[in-house]
Amino acid sequence: MEPVKVGLLGLGTVGGGTVNVLQRNAEEISRRAGRGIIVSHASARDINKPRICKTDDIQLTETPIDVVSDPEVSIVVELIGGDTLARELVLKAIANGKHVVTANKALIAKHGNEIFSAAQKQGVMVAFEAAVAGGIPIIKAIREGLAGNQIEWLAGIINGTGNFILTEMRDKQRDFDSVLAEAQRLGYAEADPTFDVEGIDAAHKLTILASIAFGIPLQFEKVYTEGISKITGEDVDYASELGYTIKHLGLSRITDAGVELRVHPTLIPKRRLIANVDGVMNAVLVKGDAVGPTLYYGAGAGAEPTASAVVGDIVDVVRVLTSDPENRVPHLAFQPESLSDLSILPIDEVETAYYLRIAASDKAGVMANITTILADNGISIDSMLQKEHKSDEKAAIIIITHTTIEKNMNEAIAKINALEAVNGDVVRIRLEHLDAD
Ligand code: HSE
Repeated sequence: MEPVKVGLLGLGTVGGGTVNVLQRNAEEISRRAGRGIIVSHASARDINKPRICKTDDIQLTETPIDVVSDPEVSIVVELIGGDTLARELVLKAIANGKHVVTANKALIAKHGNEIFSAAQKQGVMVAFEAAVAGGIPIIKAIREGLAGNQIEWLAGIINGTGNFILTEMRDKQRDFDSVLAEAQRLGYAEADPTFDVEGIDAAHKLTILASIAFGIPLQFEKVYTEGISKITGEDVDYASELGYTIKHLGLSRITDAGVELRVHPTLIPKRRLIANVDGVMNAVLVKGDAVGPTLYYGAGAGAEPTASAVVGDIVDVVRVLTSDPENRVPHLAFQPESLSDLSILPIDEVETAYYLRIAASDKAGVMANITTILADNGISIDSMLQKEHKSDEKAAIIIITHTTIEKNMNEAIAKINALEAVNGDVVRIRLEHLDAD
């Protein structure tokens, strides 16, 4: 049988890795797929640029639409990123009857509903394993492996750059900017690194995970998103003293009131496995009603880890090329007509625990005032720590609370900020126990 021909859009880090993996493991891949798979066409912005892969047998072009329109190409692999040109090319590929594999989380999170609907009409597949957590096959795990469960919640470290920065700040007291520059050099960071540090990249990925976990349409615009740029070494140290690690988490939970969809720095008990996922590594914790908590760990970025997911998707597509479109695994895990319209909870309605750091004058009655405000707002204290700054008679008061509704905490923080003895704004970081319940 003729090998299946793949056209790559983009020959950068992931594109180069994909060519290398397909070439190096060609025999194993063909034994798995039942056919050979070759990259026959590829587009790049500058075809003369040095590459990490050999391109001798690939027809190169600087015009991506040529790849998408070439009748020889059966599978288009979109690796150019962004959501403008990528969207046009992917929709064109679908219109041309080609299957699509993409690593583009922004594209799927923002335009996935439109893309899947177009793909369904054309009877083609759109696979996107590489869009979330790089090499970890988390889409497949939730969509297929956990298909017998009601997913209750999931929480993930899904931005390698952010995790790398927090780890280096904690372990080596390195400053934020130098660690970010290193992540950029290593090819982990997004083209616009604010996507990493402000949580946008994680929000794209969480949008996708929540859809396949709960059978809801993709709703990127409803994700509450907070990055790591305001985390200080001081908070990392106090959290550690109290038995917690600060991680940047994407978290989605189904509740009676709706679906929580939030990305923010989070204190996690140090004893949780996920609290020990360091450096550029990613991990996703998924709680199913039948299986209990399950944890998926691996490289979340980089050429070959991401290529591993891209090639896995290509093999999947090749395996079912000739199958009836109605009998394929649905794009978002649930049959399109069975997606639910569960509402996404605004952050004010979310229930979580908190770490608070309050800078206050060290004098009688301050602590009593603060604890009274918390009590008046129905917030119960779990533990407390006071650090003296003898030189300026100021104290840092650190409070860990039990869970409460975010709007109660907002009211309490506003009142604490208004106390005369309190200096500056209260620092608030959410806290999750991530236990088996
Ligand atoms: N910038 C992303 C990260 C790349 O650091 O996780 C993988 O999506």
